[in-house]
Amino acid sequence: MDIVTLARIQFAMTTVFHYFFVPFSIGTGLVVAIMETLYVTKKDEFYKKMAKFWGNIFLLSFAVGVVTGLIQEFQFGMNWSEYSRFMGDIFGAPLAVEALLAFFLESTFLGLWMFTWDKVSPKLHVVFMWLVFVGSMMSAFWILVANSFMQHPVGYTINNGRAEMNDFVALVTNPKVMYEFSHVIAGAITLGGIAVAGMAAFRLLKKDSLTELSRTVYQKSLRVGLWVGLVGSVTVLAAGDFQMKAMLETQPMKFAAAEGLYEDSEDPAAWTLVAWMNEKEKERVFGIEVPYVLSILSYHELSGSVDGMNTINERLIEEYGERNYFPPVNALFWNFRVMAGFGMLMLMVSIVGLFFTRKKKPILYEKPWMLWIVALTTFAPFLANTAGWLLTELGRYPWTAYGLFTIEESVSPNVSATSLLISNISYFTLFTILGSVMVYLVIRTLKKGPDALEAAEHEEPTIDPFAGGAFNE
Ligand code: HEM
Repeated sequence: MDIVTLARIQFAMTTVFHYFFVPFSIGTGLVVAIMETLYVTKKDEFYKKMAKFWGNIFLLSFAVGVVTGLIQEFQFGMNWSEYSRFMGDIFGAPLAVEALLAFFLESTFLGLWMFTWDKVSPKLHVVFMWLVFVGSMMSAFWILVANSFMQHPVGYTINNGRAEMNDFVALVTNPKVMYEFSHVIAGAITLGGIAVAGMAAFRLLKKDSLTELSRTVYQKSLRVGLWVGLVGSVTVLAAGDFQMKAMLETQPMKFAAAEGLYEDSEDPAAWTLVAWMNEKEKERVFGIEVPYVLSILSYHELSGSVDGMNTINERLIEEYGERNYFPPVNALFWNFRVMAGFGMLMLMVSIVGLFFTRKKKPILYEKPWMLWIVALTTFAPFLANTAGWLLTELGRYPWTAYGLFTIEESVSPNVSATSLLISNISYFTLFTILGSVMVYLVIRTLKKGPDALEAAEHEEPTIDPFAGGAFNE
């Protein structure tokens, strides 16, 4: 395998693995903050137990998210030094703000939240968790400012073969930022809600072995999770609609590939439900079409045609010169459908789940097949979020910064195929271990349930580590 392919595999592997934990911690952070707010407003102790219990799962995802984020930085430095040289001036500012302000805010208040249960007033304590959530959103914002530049460069000049920022405000107000930010945060919120509901459903399937306390905590958590999942999935679908329009305008090749369109569409344009493309021959092997829908999705109208990849390719050659502009079409087409399909599924599960857990007739808890559906939906937001990023990043081909710098140009000149192969195998091994430990710890926490927290509270350590005598033992 050549160096570029190996470096791309490493980028994909580290990013996909990192991104399992980012929306997990943003989303569960919100769910925990909501649960604790319910405790403060309703003065119902159950919500406090819920916040503490899911807080443990949130902490696990946060910890692994930070570790995998560090690996992400290493692979950037090792494999993409030309990219860093070209983009350093643009990337530097948002990433520094992210680390210095957002991440510090998040980690400081997370520490305070962990160690001050029952030491400060409940009202102040819940503020810590909300600040953690705000910090994580700010982190996401600055990372997406950097990513949005790669999708749609603004506020720069090219000097000595490097992109230099000449307008920080333009960088931050890049229209792509708001589309990505709203879609990504909504995707994270959906994940938090659906994952909490799903994990609670897994435990409720074993209801005979649960104590009264655990059962109540899981039932209440399932409903809170579904509410959050509902708000998240409505928002993610609405934000996705804006993303579609922006993509059509700024990256029409990505749009056409996500729709599997080689030739210009008819007017009105039909939307393809499923298809397979022969990428070598640049033709569609088969497809099932639904009339009008692509015009509606693209323009919110019953008419309007969409340019196909062949037409766009000619335009791109005219604008940027001769090279291959065709992205991996089947990958884009199917990732789009996985993302949107799971989005619809999560919306349905949230609505139907909330209906069947309503106070009057909560039959969902008694029907194992219904619990199974909610439980298995746990995996849907992870897949949808991953598919979303694969669409976004693969679809930018052949660029790292759209229209300015290509993938071929970005790779480190001195990295060897052997070192890449070794680091790929090492990262893969590390991720397998980290992932397995994470899954093991989550399952263990779920199995122990809220009862374990209750027991631990009653045997609170007799020595306060911050008290004077602690270090004399
Ligand atoms: C009908 C539903 C949806 C539509 C129309 C939609 C649309 C889009 C589009 C067009 C992009 C690519 C943007 C670009 O590269 O310019 C995208 C990316 C993405 N999507 Fe979706 N999406 C939908 C559902 C979801 C769901 C349910 C999730 C996760 C729970 C999700 C998560 C993401 C993520 C993480 C990205 C990458 C970041 C970004 O470019 O914003 N999407 N989506």
